[in-house]
Amino acid sequence: MISDNLTPSRPDITALPVERVAHLLRVSPKAELHVHIEGTLEPELIFALAQRNGVSLPYADVEALRKAYAFTDLQSFLDLYYAGCDVLRTEQDFFDLAWAYFQRAARDHVVRVEPFFDPQSHTARGVGFEVFMPAFIQAAQRAQDELGLSVGWIVSVLRHLSEEDALQMLDAAQPWLDHLIGIGLDSSERGNPPEKFSRVFARAREMGLHAVAHAGEEGPPAYVLGALDVLKVERIDHGVRASEDPALMQRLAREQMPLTVCPLSNVRLCVVPDLAQHNLPQLLAAGLKVTVNSDDPAYFGGYVNDNLTELFAAQPALGAAQAYALLRNSLEASFAADGDKALWIAQLDAQWRQAV
Ligand code: HPA
Ligand code: ZN
Repeated sequence: MISDNLTPSRPDITALPVERVAHLLRVSPKAELHVHIEGTLEPELIFALAQRNGVSLPYADVEALRKAYAFTDLQSFLDLYYAGCDVLRTEQDFFDLAWAYFQRAARDHVVRVEPFFDPQSHTARGVGFEVFMPAFIQAAQRAQDELGLSVGWIVSVLRHLSEEDALQMLDAAQPWLDHLIGIGLDSSERGNPPEKFSRVFARAREMGLHAVAHAGEEGPPAYVLGALDVLKVERIDHGVRASEDPALMQRLAREQMPLTVCPLSNVRLCVVPDLAQHNLPQLLAAGLKVTVNSDDPAYFGGYVNDNLTELFAAQPALGAAQAYALLRNSLEASFAADGDKALWIAQLDAQWRQAV
């Protein structure tokens, strides 16, 4: 049955009941385009790696650590997130981290993931690319072979550090270029506008990397504009504050610029008061190419399927059409090969056709 006012090939999904939509959200093929691999470091693994590496932690146990995850803003989270990274010392540690996440993502029917990693949070501790890159490459290969999960790594710049530091990081990344698909920009947004990294992104784009940047999470709509016009990004990470600027909203819709929105992250970091008040439905209704992602699932209480199903449970305005759009957008907005994307979209459509 094919009748939808958007695209003729889409399954007719208008009559699907809520429980069926929730099920489809969970079992459909999807891409995760905004996840920090260091943000998948679960408290249990922090304790296991601390013990393995002889690192002492200022928490009695896993429960005490989890209790500390009560954030008031982005910076209060980042302080704990960077502290958590300190247990990552050896190639085996980074492999265990990435492989654990890939297995978890596959259970959510993620077929493509483009994880960020933060080299500067490791090189500053004396842990270099030669330690974490072989681990990331091996884990990605195993994910492809054993889970059918396609992986494209995005090297991310810490925006609270200098442009010079970022340029040095890019030099160190150069030998590993074949294993990278993109450059990103994360960490403390306020006071660190995209313009600070114009030369870094220009060089990265010359190196053949796709460009993305966190913008409009805590920062103003002007930072989204800076990411578009100065860094020339192909996706905006978060971008939820774009809704404060009608002209920017129109542009994002017109250009079909993907937004990688992370609902549970936005709640945990007090960007929005709760899931029921998240502006994702408005962004979708305005025609923006929105995707749903987990950001730092070990810290924010949920992986990608949790983000999708909890948001839908909290927002009666979200139904089958929005669910299908979010899933399809995630596949379309990925940097995977066109042939792979077409295959995943065909699988998605087959699944939804079966359901109606
Ligand atoms: N925002 C900025 N920097 C980050 C985030 C985030 O949500 N997660 C990890 N680093
Ligand atoms: Zn993020």
